[in-house]
Amino acid sequence: MNTLNVLGIETSCDETSVSIISNGILTSNLISSQDFHTQYGGVVPELSSRAHLQIVMPLLKNALQKSNLKLQNIDLICATAGPGLVGALLVGLTFAKGLSFSLKKPFVPVNHIEGHIFSGFLMEEKPEFPYLCLVVSGGHTLLLIVKSDLEIVKLGSTIDDAAGEAFDKVSKLLGLGYPGGPLIENAAENYNNDLIDFPVAQCKNEFDFSFSGLKTSVLRFIQKEYGDAERIPHGDLPKISASFQRTAVKSLTVNVERALNKFNVNSISVVGGVAANKLLRSELNRISKKYGKKLIIPSNEFCGDNAAMIAYRGSRLYENGFKFSLSENAYPSLNENSFIKL
Ligand code: KG4
Ligand code: ZN
Repeated sequence: MNTLNVLGIETSCDETSVSIISNGILTSNLISSQDFHTQYGGVVPELSSRAHLQIVMPLLKNALQKSNLKLQNIDLICATAGPGLVGALLVGLTFAKGLSFSLKKPFVPVNHIEGHIFSGFLMEEKPEFPYLCLVVSGGHTLLLIVKSDLEIVKLGSTIDDAAGEAFDKVSKLLGLGYPGGPLIENAAENYNNDLIDFPVAQCKNEFDFSFSGLKTSVLRFIQKEYGDAERIPHGDLPKISASFQRTAVKSLTVNVERALNKFNVNSISVVGGVAANKLLRSELNRISKKYGKKLIIPSNEFCGDNAAMIAYRGSRLYENGFKFSLSENAYPSLNENSFIKL
């Protein structure tokens, strides 16, 4: 079934992405980021929808050209159906359904998180089932055991903020801007000494995560030391950023180690926007070596939102025999029909 030209479309948040996987090989993965949201300190949903609408068609044309294909050569159309911003999702979904209808080619709605979970398969070295998967994005933090294409067991998730959300909120608090992850990482770069001892949360379920206490600890520290965030001396930003980053990463890695002590897996995969974080990558590298497990972290192009992961996941569902009509599985019903067995 690998002899398919699979089109993927992703418009769940602030990245418009169009990708083509041709005969099992990724021939284009075009990503257009809506950088203009930075001036508002976060994603403005209505502006996001409009920007998707403007760029999705030119991206499709470029992706076809790059892949040396005509629209008529596309055999399968996959689009993110949720979770995400409703208006933004609708742009990609409606576009994909229109293509499917006019080309008379099958359409597969894809769960965005499932796209991330399997994004390690876009790398040359692939995860091996069963694998421990840490999903760390702006909206989700999950620890899973992925047993096969269709069987995923949830060990834990965040009980409050997602990991990426914590980076974004603390960044805002420090006046660094949006998106917080890369900005905090930059501010923290090369700062290792004399870190502030922020607490790692302990949850009732040993595999759950919590970040809101950490965020409050950063806020309390700022209030105690400086009165308010505007008075933080520029020179102190690396110390606060590095201390927060170290604790956030530790909150993630302790659960990974706990799971490795309890479950037998063949590899570890870390996916989603926060997987781009260098400290998280190096800590997981150390842990994977300690436990003798293969570690698959997608390259930055596949960590953030991208349509390659949507095309890949959609094609696996299709190859597993799933068929979808154009009238079903539109967001939000996909959540109920999600293939994640949580
Ligand atoms: O997966 P993603 O691109 O979009 C969602 O589906 O949410 O993740 C975006 C999140 C944002 O919260 C962003 O701050 C975070 O990933 N992020 C990072 C880094 N790069 C992006 N967090 C920490 N370190 C980074 N280098
Ligand atoms: Zn995402």
